[in-house]
Amino acid sequence: MDGFKNTSALRKNIAVLVSGNGSNLNALINAVNTGKIVNANIALVISNKKSANALNIARDAKIPTFYVARDLFNSDEEYDLFLLNKLNEYSTDLVLLAGYLRIITPIFLKAFENRILNIHPSLLPDFGGKGMYGMKVHQAVLNSKSVKSGCTVHLVTEKIDGGHILAQSSVSIMPDDSAEILAAKVLEEEHKLYPLAVNNFISTIMLNNNR
Ligand code: GRF
Repeated sequence: MDGFKNTSALRKNIAVLVSGNGSNLNALINAVNTGKIVNANIALVISNKKSANALNIARDAKIPTFYVARDLFNSDEEYDLFLLNKLNEYSTDLVLLAGYLRIITPIFLKAFENRILNIHPSLLPDFGGKGMYGMKVHQAVLNSKSVKSGCTVHLVTEKIDGGHILAQSSVSIMPDDSAEILAAKVLEEEHKLYPLAVNNFISTIMLNNNR
């Protein structure tokens, strides 16, 4: 039929990879449920940590969850191959890292080239790279006497925190801010920025390229 659009064909299946608390996952779930992220569905959540609260958040939202322990595999590549099989099982179009504390191997990167996004709690390229995660980032920002920090959504490539920047949001740093206070401020921004960036990515890049 002319002009007919099959919206279910446009719907992208998202897989979220987590290791921790899951507040960004929660923001993403809410954004899908309230229509801030359109044409998408969170199809599965995978954690490498059994105790990750993110798994509880996903279960409460009735999203299929998988805890996959690294020590069941002989290598990082074998681990990622197992993950890739799971992603294929759920017809995954887009992978979102949300506090996932593992490095993605080249085999995984190649399978989802330009379709893996991450959120990092600083204004990249500053305060990114190997070892820069969690409170270490915020402490380094404070040590540098910067007057602002923020968060960055970027494509994931072999260079840690070095992929193309899709979106950023900044926060001001007050003279007496502790690393914990700064982390909380940045996290609040992350919860707004990640859903926005994901929606933008799907609607402007994925749907236009028909990926
Ligand atoms: C966030 O600060 C994010 O930027 C970083 O890991 C943290 C995850 O927090 N990549 P949460 O698990 O989403 O609460």
